[in-house]
This record gives sequence, C-alpha cells and structure tokens, in this order.
Amino acid sequence: GMTRHYKFNVVLQNVTHLCHTKSVITVNGKWPGPRVIAREGDRLLIEVVNHVPNNISIHWHGIRQLRSGWADGPAYVTQCPIQIGQSYMYNYTIVGQRGTLWWHAHISWLRSTLYGPLIILPKHNASYPFAKPHKEIPIVFGEWFNSDTEAIINQALQTGGGPNVSDAYTINGLPGPLYNCSAIDTYRLKVKPGKTYLLRLINAALNDELFFSIANHTLTVVEADAVYVKPFETETLLIAPGQTTNVLLKTKPHYPKAIFLMTARPYVTGLGTFDNSTVAGILEYKPPLDKPHWSSSIKQLPLFKPTLPPLNDTAFATNFTNKLRSLATPQFPANVPQKVDQRFFFTVGLGTVPCQGNQTCQGPNGTMFNAAINNVSFTMPTTALLQAHYTGQSNRVYSPDFPSYPKSIFNFTGTSPNNTNVGNGTKLVVLPFNSSVELIMQDTSILGAESHPLHLHGFNFFVVGQGFGNFDPNNDPGKFNLVDPVERNTVGVPSGGWVAIRFLADNPGVWFMHCHLEVHTSWGLKMAWLVLDGKLPNQKLPPPPADLPKC
Ligand code: C2O
Repeated sequence: GMTRHYKFNVVLQNVTHLCHTKSVITVNGKWPGPRVIAREGDRLLIEVVNHVPNNISIHWHGIRQLRSGWADGPAYVTQCPIQIGQSYMYNYTIVGQRGTLWWHAHISWLRSTLYGPLIILPKHNASYPFAKPHKEIPIVFGEWFNSDTEAIINQALQTGGGPNVSDAYTINGLPGPLYNCSAIDTYRLKVKPGKTYLLRLINAALNDELFFSIANHTLTVVEADAVYVKPFETETLLIAPGQTTNVLLKTKPHYPKAIFLMTARPYVTGLGTFDNSTVAGILEYKPPLDKPHWSSSIKQLPLFKPTLPPLNDTAFATNFTNKLRSLATPQFPANVPQKVDQRFFFTVGLGTVPCQGNQTCQGPNGTMFNAAINNVSFTMPTTALLQAHYTGQSNRVYSPDFPSYPKSIFNFTGTSPNNTNVGNGTKLVVLPFNSSVELIMQDTSILGAESHPLHLHGFNFFVVGQGFGNFDPNNDPGKFNLVDPVERNTVGVPSGGWVAIRFLADNPGVWFMHCHLEVHTSWGLKMAWLVLDGKLPNQKLPPPPADLPKC
C-alpha cells in the first residue's frame, strides 16, 4: 500500500440552514467534512490541528486499528483530547478492510458537525463481488440543530431531562424541500438512465435510526459496515447511527420524464420526544444528449414521493436486519468463532439516578435520566484508559471488574421495577489475547423497551442471533447462525429483545463499546474492553506515539 496524507484543520465556520445561521465546528471549513479515501493496505497519516475553543478528538469509525489502538480516537479512552492550539497525527494502516466507513469527533456532542465519509477502495488488483458501478456516491445523513448542540447536552445533563431534538435531518448537509426556508437547500443526485450507481449510505445523525427510500426505485443492498453481504433488493432501508450500508441503484432504462424524491425519517421505539420530520433529496435524470432543452422543463415534471414505514415499525426493522447475511464464500469467508472462550450477558437500557441537591429534576418522577450496561453507568475518567493501562497507572483510573452478568435478574421485557436507579463506575472487562467472545445484549424495559444501536470499537463482530422477549439460554443458542451471519461493527439491540454477537479478541488495546444514540452515550450507556497483549512480538500494542495528547 501507499501512504496518504490528510490535514484536518478544525475551525469555526458560519453555516446557514432553515434561515438560522450559527457558527459550527468543521474540518477545513466544510460541513459535512471532507471525504477521506484510501485503498485496502494503505497507511493513513491524518494530522488534526485544533483551532477551536473546544477540546476535540477524531474517531475512524469501523477501522479495526490492528495494533494501532493509539489512533482510535475516543476521548479519555485511547487518548486525551487534542487541546486548543494542539495537534495530533492519526497514523494507521488499513488491514483486511474495504468499503464505506466514516470518521467523526468522539467527545461530547461535537460529532453533530464533525463528520465525513471514510472510503476504502479494494486493492488495485481486486474487484467488487458485483459489476463495477458507473459511479459511486456518498449519501451522508445528519441532523441539523438551530441552536448549539453543546449547550443542548450540557443543559440536559444538568436538569436530568431529555435534550432538545434536532430541527431537521440532512442528506449531505442539506435539509431539503419539506422544511421551511429550505427548498434551495436540497441535495440533488443527477443520474443517467440505464446505469448502476453505488450509493454509500452513512448515518451520522446524533440520535435517530432512519428509514430511507427513493421513490419508484429498488435498491440492492450489497454491503453493511464495510463488509460485503449477500445481495438483496429492498424499497426501504433501515440504518442506525454508526452504521453504513452500500446499495446499488439501477436507474430507469429510459429518461423517465419525472423526478423522484428520496426521503429519510426516524425509526423510533423509546419514550420521550424526537424529531419526527423528514429530510428529502431529489433524484433527477439528465436529459438525453440530443434533447438538452428538456432540462429547462425539469421543474414541471411530475414528482414521485416514496412511502416510508410507520415511525415505530419494529416488524420492518426485524425483517430487514434478518436479510443481512455474509457472503461466506471462499474469497470472502465468514470466520465466525465456532467455539467460545468467554461468555457475557449485558443488559442495556435507560435508568435513572437521584436528583442532586434538593432541586427537582426533569427526568422520570423528578429523577435524572441515565443509562447503563449491567446496571453500571460508565463514568468517564479524566485521563485516557489506554494510557493508564500502558503506564501501569490503572488502579487509580479504572477497575478491571465490569460485571459479566447483571447482578439482579428481573423480567427484562416485562414491567419496570420499582427502583429504576442505576449504579456507576469506570469498569473494564479484561480479555486475554485471542479469546473468542460471545456476548448477549438484552434490552431492558426499566424505562420502557427501546432499540439501541451498540457499536464496538476495534473489531467486527458476527451477529449470530436475535430475538424478542428475554433471551433463553436453554433454547436460543441452538438457533444461532454460525454459517453466514452478518459481520459488522454496530448492531441494533431490538426493542424488547436481545441480540447475540461473537468476535475474536485479536487486537490488543482498550476498546470502547457504546450505544451510538449520542444521548444514551452521554447518560452512561457505554463500557470498555481491555484486550491484553499476546506473547509474540506481533501480538503486542506498540508504544504510544510521541505526540499523543496529554490530559
Ligand atoms: Cu462511531 Cu465510538 O463511535
């Protein structure tokens, strides 16, 4: 591979949407941020320079970071944040991965504006397992807030209530014609008839899973989280924050004399308020070369709109996710761990903590909203976990006793318990090098059932099973798919159900795992795995780079 250099100057930039102008934190003045492109096997050197009044850090979502854990990016996990006026060189090699991933800030809610595509092309002599598309187009979903997102989350954490919701969803930064004061702010995908386009879909929204559809066009899903899947056709997709999905769009054989909306709006299962608005972009055909004058009448053409599933359509979600299967071919094998060394059962869900002082908080029954895994709401340390481990300072920073099973067992998917309070701590699971791990994640109904997109850093995992109700350890494991389960980095724990994943802990370092709904991360729905070094030299994490930021 070759070495590719990028420079990310993190700067403030005024951006206007919905007739609101605000100063946003951007990379190189662009929102969404620049596209990073590399090939499998390449080394990336990305210098991030902080010119804004916030501490920052950047995560390369889905990159495995094999033995380059210092470049993973979550603040206070693998590094201290890059302070004002400082810089850090992210340095990593892309090993055994190709497809659509993305990068985003990984501190507080700064990823609301600091994000962009990270596209890994196959090696020069390799091809896609489908015909080469005419063009490849990133479609990045985001959320636009008229007010400052740092103020929104800080206020929510102080009062204990739910944060204000966004004012619009966006496609490649644009809210589109269904919002007030936004018609000129519309993403337009201009296509030719009779061609195949590869759309690289990325959900960078802060807090919402999204349905997406293009009117009168079928999409063929070919990849999820930068791993090829068995192709299948669908009218609508579901994509959770953190997830990426590649689809093939086959355009109509002839100029259709119509234009088509593409729309996205949320899939929502929890309590509370959410932004239920719809972002729209336009799919527009270029007129034939001998009829260029048709383009002047494009605005008069009939406009077709897609129909999206109801906001809480869990049946659609289940049916869609069940269709995702690894290729599992000799060229693209599914290396599912067939035996398990370590088993874990994690409950994931919301909870509460008592109100501080004698104020009344805005959460349930005057408490504060919180969230936890196995009843542990993760407290961020003030120094980076990986540094603490590496320098032998760990006992002052974290404890290695994250519970493998929940301490109190109740009927997870039944009625809420009387006491909804959760505990807290900075606890890690410690895994010997090369352990093969099975993890069941069970949604709780402590504050109502809700779908949670859980993201694991540093690994792809196989989704070997999912179901509704309480996981049944006697009957459910017998139904696991160990042949062609989808391999990914972010999976939805079904609302009122469970999901089972397996992965091989072959990557030494500290690896964050959290709900990719940002508000749930803020409330504590996160934890970390410490994978120890192996015995051989190539099984050890190298020392930190000299410019690793200090806290
Ligand atoms: Cu995409 Cu820990 O994040």
